[in-house]
Amino acid sequence: MKEKSLTRDILSGMFIVSTKGSACIVDTVLQVSSSKPPLISVSVNKNNYTNQMLKKNSKFTISILSKNVKGEVIKTFGFNSSKDIDKFKDFDYLEIDGIKVLKDTIGYMILEIVDIIDVETHNIFIGRVVDEVRFNNEEAMLYQDYQLHKDELLKVETESGKTAWICTVCGYVYYGDTLPDDFVCPKCGVGKSAFEKK
Ligand SMILES: Cc1cc2nc3c(=O)[nH]c(=O)nc-3n(C[C@H](O)[C@H](O)[C@H](O)COP(=O)(O)O)c2cc1C
Repeated sequence: MKEKSLTRDILSGMFIVSTKGSACIVDTVLQVSSSKPPLISVSVNKNNYTNQMLKKNSKFTISILSKNVKGEVIKTFGFNSSKDIDKFKDFDYLEIDGIKVLKDTIGYMILEIVDIIDVETHNIFIGRVVDEVRFNNEEAMLYQDYQLHKDELLKVETESGKTAWICTVCGYVYYGDTLPDDFVCPKCGVGKSAFEKK
């Protein structure tokens, strides 16, 4: 039997990193100093639009997701690009210095970027906490909770008796016997080949 990688036993949380123009789900947030205020790092893939936007901005926020997070939040912020859609469109949010911050979380920190480190596929952005706001005392979600419950969290609801075409990128559902050849997902912009019949 193939042993699972030890990296699977490195516990981490679930967060949204947001900056002006982009936001995405991350599980790679760490407190890396005990200075007052502390430094926090977040590792963001170079292919993500949020990485490009972080390099253009001096500030970002980190929101902490709770165990009660809605599947829609993970689908929207973790499986779409801010390049294609406004991820905050269907959610309540605040705006701080042009940075959109989701309300339905445990709270958020505002950080100023002090360093950016190149780590092959990702950049580590190091920020100094300049402010923080707590909304509630819900229990934080772990990445391992997400792994255990992701089938339920990412489940797509379909209406019975109808043929549904599900966008494998963002979860949008189109109802109809056939999907037109030139169909483009109204939510994330991908073409017909990204849809699965259900
Ligand atoms: C559970 C989960 C954890 C993730 N962790 C990270 C992460 O630590 N770093 C990262 O760059 N992307 C991570 N992602 C992927 C991004 O959220 C995803 O690629 C997103 O669509 C990027 O959006 P953007 O193009 O708007 O930046 C994670 C996604 C999920 C669902």
